This record gives sequence, C-alpha cells and structure tokens, in this order.
Amino acid sequence: MIEVKTGGKLYVAGEYAILAPKQTALLAFIPIYMRASIQPTSIYQLSSDMFDYSCDMASLDANYALIQESVAVMEEYVLACGQKLQPFSLAITGKLERDGLKLGIGSSGSVVVLTLKAMAALYQLDVSADLLFKLAAYVLLKRGDNGSMGDIACISYESLIAYTAFDREEVRRQIDSHSLQEVLASDWGYSIRPVHSVLDIDFLVGWTRQPSISKDMIRRVKGSIDEAFLTETNQQVLRLITALETGDKLTIKDSLERISALLDQLSPAIYNDSLRRLKTASSGLDCVAKSSGSGGGDCGIALSFDEKSSHALIERWRKEGITLLLQERL
Ligand code: PMV
Ligand code: MG
Repeated sequence: MIEVKTGGKLYVAGEYAILAPKQTALLAFIPIYMRASIQPTSIYQLSSDMFDYSCDMASLDANYALIQESVAVMEEYVLACGQKLQPFSLAITGKLERDGLKLGIGSSGSVVVLTLKAMAALYQLDVSADLLFKLAAYVLLKRGDNGSMGDIACISYESLIAYTAFDREEVRRQIDSHSLQEVLASDWGYSIRPVHSVLDIDFLVGWTRQPSISKDMIRRVKGSIDEAFLTETNQQVLRLITALETGDKLTIKDSLERISALLDQLSPAIYNDSLRRLKTASSGLDCVAKSSGSGGGDCGIALSFDEKSSHALIERWRKEGITLLLQERL
C-alpha cells in the first residue's frame, strides 16, 4: 500500500485577471491535506469519502467523473512511458470540509493532482511538479473546466507561487489534434515560480463558512473583466511580488489594497457581507485583508506585520463569525 497527499491553495492576488492569458497571480499553498492510498488489485476500485459508495473504471459515474478522467489520462501517460497497465484500488480521504461545509481551498483541483500523484507512485514514475501540473491541466481542459489552472499550479508546486497563465483555448485545440505526449512536450507559454518573502509576515486565512461555487462566480463575473482591470491588476500583482521579495512593507499593503479595490469594482457579488466584514476588520491594524479567489463566500486572507495586529484581527474576525482556518509564516 502506497500513500500520498495533496494540499489546498488560496489566491493572494490576481484572481479573475488570471483567467486571461499572460496575466500573473500569486497563490499560497494551504497545508490542509487530502490523502490517497493506492495498491495493485485484480479489479479497479475507486473510493472517496465524499461519497458513500465506490466505483470502477468500467462505467462512467457522475460523482467519480473527475477521478475517473484523471485515471484515464494517467493511464495514457503510463502506456506512453512503455509500461503495462495494472488495475488498482484507490481510496481518497480528507475532503477539504469542516462541519460538513466545504472550505473552498481547492478540493477539486487537489483531487486531480492527488489521483495523478498516487498513480505515479504506483507505477514508480518520477513525475516532476511541472509535469504533474501539465497532466492535471490536461485532465481539466479535457473536461471543459472554466478555471485558470492557478489552483493546480499551486497544489502541484506546494509553495507560494507566481503563476502566469497560458492560452487555454490554444492548448485545448492542441488536445483535439495531437497525442498526449505531443501536447505535454510542447511549450504552453505559462510560468510557475516559487516566491519567497524576505519579511516575517503572518499569513492568516479567515473562513466565512459560506460555500461559494467558483465556476458559477466565474460565469457571473467574467463579462465585467475589461482591459483596464487586467492591466491594473497585473501591474499591482507584479508590484506585490517584487515588494515581497525585497521586503517593502508599504508597497505590499498598498498593492493588495488596490487589488482588493479593483475586485470590489469588478462585481458586487465578490465582496458579500462576510467578506466585507473580514476586510473591514483589518482597519487601523498593521495588516491588510482581502477576499480570496472568486469571492461570494469561502475564504478571505490577511497579511499581518506584527503579532499584536494578528491577535487583534483574529479576535475581530471571531466576533464577526469568521473562523481562523490557518495562521502561518508566509
Ligand atoms: O474561489 P477560488 O479559490 O477557486 O478561486 C477562483 C479564482 C478565479 O480567478 C476567479 C478563477 C480561476 O480559476 O482562476
Ligand atoms: Mg472559492
């Protein structure tokens, strides 16, 4: 029996803009894990604690479709590596939920990366973080996913990353007309780079306990994304990344405030009441807070520059009904 795990992700900056090619976003890895155990068996058995039944590979199951597609793509890769296929049992646990509510830290992306990782371990294939990302993106593009793939970039690299998006339509066309090996070998034009903050910054995650569905939010907000939003967000994200790498606290705060204001102007659906309160709670403290990801619920984040501010913010969040999900050094 082999065990592997994958974590979650949260956007620090660049959400929505990252849906357009060449834009850059900053994402933080969230060390809350899903786990998988895999072992060779005579027949396929896929199970996840999200559902109260298992399935195999013989017939498509709507609940298991994402896992089944991940298995199918990885098997294509295994064959291309010259190995024979082997049925297995795969058991996934640790749905990214609390009190029966989803946390909104990237469970669907995480389950794809987890399945690929488990199979790579089973077949003893040395799969780099970058190849893992490409395979996961291939699975999601094949399924018509409407996301930017920033989530799987962060979950594959398990680090704070700067992700610059590729042209998904272009790669989708490649998938239609080329083999998996050819698509994997081509340069998609993205970049994924780990970012290191030189300052000791407290990274705080506040959970609103209100589930929000990213793909619905994208449908709702996408039409409002214009050139000005893209240009200004990208400028501020790049400014933020440089400020983190050079330890420029004022610029870190200023760029995040501007990015937050740009999101606020983009659509009233992003800052719902709880995310508004999560953000407002930071006022007067040595920290900056904003909505994370598609908004409308799920989580918000804060960067805090001293211990007193962290404590005060956490206490204000608690009074506002916002749960501290994670506190760690960025
Ligand atoms: O809500 P989240 O954490 O899944 O983030 C969504 C971020 C968007 O930019 C709105 C969509 C995407 O896939 O990048
Ligand atoms: Mg979300």
